[in-house]
Amino acid sequence: MTSDIEIKLENGIQTIRFMRRGKKNALTAEMYYAMSAALDEGESNQDITVHLFLGSGGSFTAGNDIKDFVAHVKAGAKSLPALDFVRRLPKVTKPMIAAVDGLAVGVGTTLLLHCDLVYASPAARLSTPFLDLGLVPEAGSALLAQRMGYQRAFELLCLGETFDAERAYLAGLINRIVPPDELESWALGAAQRLVAKPREALLAARALMRGNDLAMICDKIEEEAAIFSERLSSAEAMEAFAAFFEKRKPDFSKLKR
Ligand code: COA
Repeated sequence: MTSDIEIKLENGIQTIRFMRRGKKNALTAEMYYAMSAALDEGESNQDITVHLFLGSGGSFTAGNDIKDFVAHVKAGAKSLPALDFVRRLPKVTKPMIAAVDGLAVGVGTTLLLHCDLVYASPAARLSTPFLDLGLVPEAGSALLAQRMGYQRAFELLCLGETFDAERAYLAGLINRIVPPDELESWALGAAQRLVAKPREALLAARALMRGNDLAMICDKIEEEAAIFSERLSSAEAMEAFAAFFEKRKPDFSKLKR
């Protein structure tokens, strides 16, 4: 168990809170294990009706912890905890809600695509710098284009633009922009409203709404995972990771073609 993530269950709502403030809530393998276990518990525990993702310290999450990520790959890990987590997302059968304050980087943004309701503070900043890291998106390449249109998705995924709360709202990625001090109570209020619904009807309605795309999304995640895993040891990714550790801009021009 890690103290970098807090998982609580209260009145039908399982809260998953990122608690690694010093590192902008960047996600380590331990945190992914805890998140995957929490989602699995949601599938087997009838007391859980809603999953609620929260950040802390003014950030949602800075995405994969790059240091931890590289260490995991170098250690020759067969499966990546981040990929094991995102594989679960489309298969989750309970509603998922997120409250985003500040940074939502990488999987911090693609996770939102799998949520049923997303609330954000005006300080929310969504970005997916996978490509700048020499990688490909995880759990987002098909969904983002489907949600906001190909061109806007390309801006986010390939140009690496950051979407502020207003732009994310206009693109349909978030339901509502809420003052920061009301953000969590909004999200919690929505979760409570869902818990109060007739449970079987809620889960059946949600399954109907999501059913058509499920196979496509799962297939796309497998496709992404294969390329993502391969790219982790690419020269481009190595240069991007080195640049991050050395706090400099990456220089891809020196790489042989
Ligand atoms: N992995 C590992 N460490 C991270 C991190 C990440 N994804 N994001 C932030 N951190 C660390 C920083 O290295 C820094 O650590 P230090 O204090 O030991 O130097 C600390 O968290 C605070 O981050 P800092 O960069 O000082 O904050 P900032 O507000 O200036 O910038 C970000 C925040 C998120 C824009 C910047 O840290 C960043 O670009 N991080 C990488 C994001 C990323 O590429 N995520 C992976 C997507 S797949």
